[in-house]
Amino acid sequence: MKMIIAIIRPNKLNSVTEALSKEGFPALTEISVRGRGKQKGIRINDMLYDKLPKEMLIIVAKNEDVEKIVSIISTTGKTGNIGDGKIFILNVEENITIRTGERIKE
Ligand SMILES: Nc1ncnc2c1ncn2[C@@H]1O[C@H](COP(=O)(O)OP(=O)(O)OP(=O)(O)O)[C@@H](O)[C@H]1O
Ligand SMILES: [Mg+2]
Repeated sequence: MKMIIAIIRPNKLNSVTEALSKEGFPALTEISVRGRGKQKGIRINDMLYDKLPKEMLIIVAKNEDVEKIVSIISTTGKTGNIGDGKIFILNVEENITIRTGERIKE
């Protein structure tokens, strides 16, 4: 199992989550965050916006589904301009459903 952490543009949130749901991946957690990438924020005239609002999606998925999920997020979340976001993939040891007690390892 993997955890996919995707940091995307706020105005792409709905299209990304709808595309994920349509392709069979409805379960996710979303968090509003602020961050910066390698350009260290953005300067507009005299104002430096040190950190910019983004949306963070957390999705725990089977290893075999990771590439499809990454592809959906990448194609739906892309504008081609700087600041489109990042996707991080982490290993997950266990996934426990509170209601049923089901435990999924690997
Ligand atoms: N190395 C990192 N670690 C943690 N979060 C990051 C990292 N890089 C980017 N982020 C997060 O992703 C958001 C979007 O980053 P951004 O798309 O600007 O990445 P980038 O690497 O600078 O790519 P680009 O050159 O396309 O702008 C940031 O606001 C921040 O929240
Ligand atoms: Mg950037």
